[in-house]
Amino acid sequence: MQISVKERLESIINNLDQLPSIPEVVGKVINMVNDPNVDFRMVAQEISRDQAITTNLLKLCNSAYFSKGKEITTLDRAIVTLGIKEVKDAVMVVATKAVLNRAILGYDLARGMLWEHDLAVAVMSKNIAMMKKDRAIADLVFTGGIIHDVGKTVLALFVQSAFKEILAKVESSGVSFQQAEREVMGYDHQEVGERILAKWKFPQVLKDIVRYHHEPDNAPEEQRKIVSYVHVANSVCLMAGVGIGSDGLYHELSEKAIKRIGITDEELNQLYSDIPDVLRQVKGLS
Ligand SMILES: [Fe+2]
Ligand SMILES: [Fe+2]
Repeated sequence: MQISVKERLESIINNLDQLPSIPEVVGKVINMVNDPNVDFRMVAQEISRDQAITTNLLKLCNSAYFSKGKEITTLDRAIVTLGIKEVKDAVMVVATKAVLNRAILGYDLARGMLWEHDLAVAVMSKNIAMMKKDRAIADLVFTGGIIHDVGKTVLALFVQSAFKEILAKVESSGVSFQQAEREVMGYDHQEVGERILAKWKFPQVLKDIVRYHHEPDNAPEEQRKIVSYVHVANSVCLMAGVGIGSDGLYHELSEKAIKRIGITDEELNQLYSDIPDVLRQVKGLS
């Protein structure tokens, strides 16, 4: 069975058509906003090519999370009022919902639970970046937070059939769930996620967030800090039970990541106390 799971997975992962899709405009917008010399009007023009995204985006820009109290009725207005990076984050929420807001069977996540977890990790990653006055990357960690577990949407069915074996490995050899996942199936959800992002033509920094969110200390040095924000937010959310599934008990919080960002014990405790507030913010997003 092992071999056939690995083979089936291999063929899915190497066949781009079988990996989840999002509207093409999203990859373009993400890359445009990642460029410091971006032209705002070009971004608005690009988004406006997709009518469904535009309609949902304007609705989201007026939601409790993004709104600054002024009614927003056009894309230009949205960019002027909220800023280009906020609008890009809102595009991400709108565009990935169809992929992430579904039941993730193998991981024991009912419909909506992965979506809630992803949004909570996004919001918390951004909150930590703001708390540590790292504003310039707040939007990036938000975007990375939303998609960090996207690989689970593809691996879910395979995990379901290999679950007993994965769990046995975790229990007998004390490895993490992700490592057991990789040993039994040949892939873990981080690697599958990275492939999905390659299909979506997302920038390298987001691929690194997805690839290393469980092991930030192994990320390329220049991205290690950014990855650490999402890692800490993910671990805190899981430990607080937000989106906890079959793998929830088997994850780690890297001490080095905590130090790298400069989070004190007090601040870490505060992050746990902030969970109800984060969940309120998430409600304002979905
Ligand atoms: Fe994960
Ligand atoms: Fe996660």
